[in-house]
Amino acid sequence: MNYTNDVSVLDKLDLNGFFVGWPNPPSNSVFKKMLKQSYKVFLAYENEKLIGFVNCISDGVLSAYIPLLEVLPEYQGQGIGQELVRKIQQDINHLYMVDLLCDEDLIPFYEKLGMMRATGALLRNYDRQNGE
Ligand SMILES: CC(C)(COP(=O)(O)OP(=O)(O)OC[C@H]1O[C@@H](n2cnc3c(N)ncnc32)[C@H](O)[C@@H]1OP(=O)(O)O)[C@@H](O)C(=O)NCCC(=O)NCCS
Repeated sequence: MNYTNDVSVLDKLDLNGFFVGWPNPPSNSVFKKMLKQSYKVFLAYENEKLIGFVNCISDGVLSAYIPLLEVLPEYQGQGIGQELVRKIQQDINHLYMVDLLCDEDLIPFYEKLGMMRATGALLRNYDRQNGE
């Protein structure tokens, strides 16, 4: 598996198969734009195909938020998700706050990566889910 934080590789990778379970997922061009406009990303890829990604948005001074982490279903359970989080953590460990929201069953996954359980609040505009 190859890992990179260089978003220019996105132009030559197959980006299909992500946003599993999303009723109204972003198109590949919106997906690519989202990754390119992020503060930091880490990508896992193999044979010209994107296998996993994590992105981070930030003010670059104090705070960062990790909105999305996903590994293609057929590649899950091989440590790729963990590796993506470890790698992006290295790129943002100069910041004070690194936050994310996740389902209860993923808390142990993030605890193993040094993060702490917290409470949060969110808003979702489902009619904007595809980012168009
Ligand atoms: C969450 C996700 C990115 C993990 O990627 P992955 O490559 O499968 O993770 P890893 O192989 O590094 O797994 C590491 C550990 O997390 C555990 N884990 C992974 N997904 C889990 C889940 N949904 N619930 C509980 N545990 C999970 C694995 O069992 C593994 O534990 P182990 O090391 O004790 O065996 C992947 O399951 C995924 O893409 N899920 C759908 C999208 C999603 O939920 N993203 C997270 C948004 S906050």
